Amino acid sequence: MKTIMVTGSNGLLGQKITENIRSSQQYHLIATSRGDNRFPQQEGYTYVSMDILDPENVRAVIEKYRPDAIIHTAAMTNVDTCQAQQEMAFALNVEAVKTLIACCETYQIQLIHLSTDFIFDGAAGPYDEQASPNPLSYYGQTKAAAEELVKKSACPWVIIRTILVYGIVADLSRSNIVLWAKAALEKAEPLNVVNDQWRMPTLAEDLADACLLAVEKEARGIYHISGKDMMSIVELVKRVAAYWGLDDSLVNEVSSTTLNQSAGRPAKTGFILDKAIADLNYQPHSFEEGLAVLDRQVKNYH
Ligand SMILES: NC(=O)c1ccc[n+]([C@@H]2O[C@H](COP(=O)([O-])OP(=O)(O)OC[C@H]3O[C@@H](n4cnc5c(N)ncnc54)[C@H](OP(=O)(O)O)[C@@H]3O)[C@@H](O)[C@H]2O)c1
Repeated sequence: MKTIMVTGSNGLLGQKITENIRSSQQYHLIATSRGDNRFPQQEGYTYVSMDILDPENVRAVIEKYRPDAIIHTAAMTNVDTCQAQQEMAFALNVEAVKTLIACCETYQIQLIHLSTDFIFDGAAGPYDEQASPNPLSYYGQTKAAAEELVKKSACPWVIIRTILVYGIVADLSRSNIVLWAKAALEKAEPLNVVNDQWRMPTLAEDLADACLLAVEKEARGIYHISGKDMMSIVELVKRVAAYWGLDDSLVNEVSSTTLNQSAGRPAKTGFILDKAIADLNYQPHSFEEGLAVLDRQVKNYH
């Protein structure tokens, strides 16, 4: 039985991976995150409090459990917070990756590192795995810098880049666009939504599946993992409204420049998924299928 360690197991992706593996006969899971475990079920896996900013802590946990693979989801993921708190963003998104790489090299652990479409400038989406990074934000810069470290490492590595992940889990430290839009429209609050950014939103379950497929198939290299539907953000929000029968006349279309966000966002990302489909047998849901998955779960969290 393989042992998989997850960092950031309290996060959106971390909890989906925990859900997926904890009852599996195939893997033993070591779930790690800072502080207490916020995943509601405690059985079927081991939880260890691990701060990725503490190299001693990270080394000790890895040495103790000697996982076959580490899925590194922990990061500073809020783009504007990274722009405002650059030192902390660098520590979390780059320095912590160095510690993990060193451990993975020592024990030849497969490192599955999560990255982002925000390493691209959005001038030429959808992108394949060979496209050249040109980040527009500090968040994107840190993720691109971490990728370079991973690529140069001497452990078996996989970089999984993803886009605008949505889903629901317990006690999330931050929301996502689908939950945000659904909640605001249910309260009949008007929403300002950009009409000049295009994405291929990713169901958190699909991303968790892809991470596990990368372990199962002992994959190597870079993989693009997202949903299969390209849409503008305003179209996304209108599709959320349509799915739940909510009034989309509250959606106010604006251009990115009117929002005055401190961090730059790429105009059009999106991924070409052919490599993941061919190598990993990755099978993403359509956007509306993803909303249906989320809809079945929503009642568990109220
Ligand atoms: N979400 C997206 O739209 C998106 C898009 C592209 C790429 N990605 C990438 O995908 C990965 C997973 O994203 P996600 O949406 O699951 O993020 P998330 O929900 O923000 O989860 C990140 C987790 O990391 C934990 N964490 C933060 N600092 C830590 C530390 N010092 N030690 C240990 N754990 C720490 C956080 O803990 P707390 O919960 O306690 O804060 C959080 O649970 C990230 O690498 C992200 O860059 C995400």
